[in-house]
Amino acid sequence: MAITIKSSREIELMREAGRLLSLVHDELAKLIRPGLSTKEIDRVCEEIIRSYGCTPNFLHYQGYPASVCVSVNEEVVHGIPKESRIIQEGDIVSLDMGLIYQGYHSDAARTHAVGKISDEAQKLIDVTRQSFYEGIKMARAGMHLHDISNAIAGYVAPYGYGIVKALVGHGIGTRLHEDPQIPNFAQHKRGPKLRPGMTLAIEPMINMGTDEVEWLNDDWTVVSADHSLSAHYENTILITEGEPEILTLGTIP
Ligand code: MF3
Ligand code: CO
Repeated sequence: MAITIKSSREIELMREAGRLLSLVHDELAKLIRPGLSTKEIDRVCEEIIRSYGCTPNFLHYQGYPASVCVSVNEEVVHGIPKESRIIQEGDIVSLDMGLIYQGYHSDAARTHAVGKISDEAQKLIDVTRQSFYEGIKMARAGMHLHDISNAIAGYVAPYGYGIVKALVGHGIGTRLHEDPQIPNFAQHKRGPKLRPGMTLAIEPMINMGTDEVEWLNDDWTVVSADHSLSAHYENTILITEGEPEILTLGTIP
């Protein structure tokens, strides 16, 4: 499939989908505290999304049973919310979710600290977030897709962290996952040329240890194979004639 170019009308809808999602993220960030079950996060997430007249796009996606992925500590992504999973002081918790507004999808993820966390864990979160910002510096018309990948990889490399290769970013629009795939690790070829009107979900997933991952037997939860901590940061962005636009940026960076 070719990479879709959104019209100005579609861009307006993508902007609104992104803005509303950033509000959900802001609300959930305020909720995070020791003692909270991951299922409670999901309940609140779905309720807020529906209160905006939107639909959670993760719910029932390929059978996924919730509106948000809540991935704790060594869980990389796709953690399924559970009544029995209680987040604790010192945990790091990644929230990944999206919504559909008038047929258009948004998708964003943040990793939060629960109470006081170790300096090492905070550094992992910060480097993962910054790797997105290094990537988006390349997200300009005329640049190539893999300039983004290489910028992310080049920034992370000196830290010795494992950049997850098994999962990648993606185009987004009338579907949650559109072409192209956006790897977060170094690429030899340049990849497709970036053009104004492309909307992309850039989402580095970084392990403190090796890049190797495994799937739990719930068939969803991805964990680091060495059980090291893992962080995730994602925004839906728009390629323009000039500066890239981050569509899902709320008050929680
Ligand atoms: N988190 C994935 C992404 O960012 C999508 C999750 S699919 C779900 O592309 F089924 F787990 F919800
Ligand atoms: Co995504």
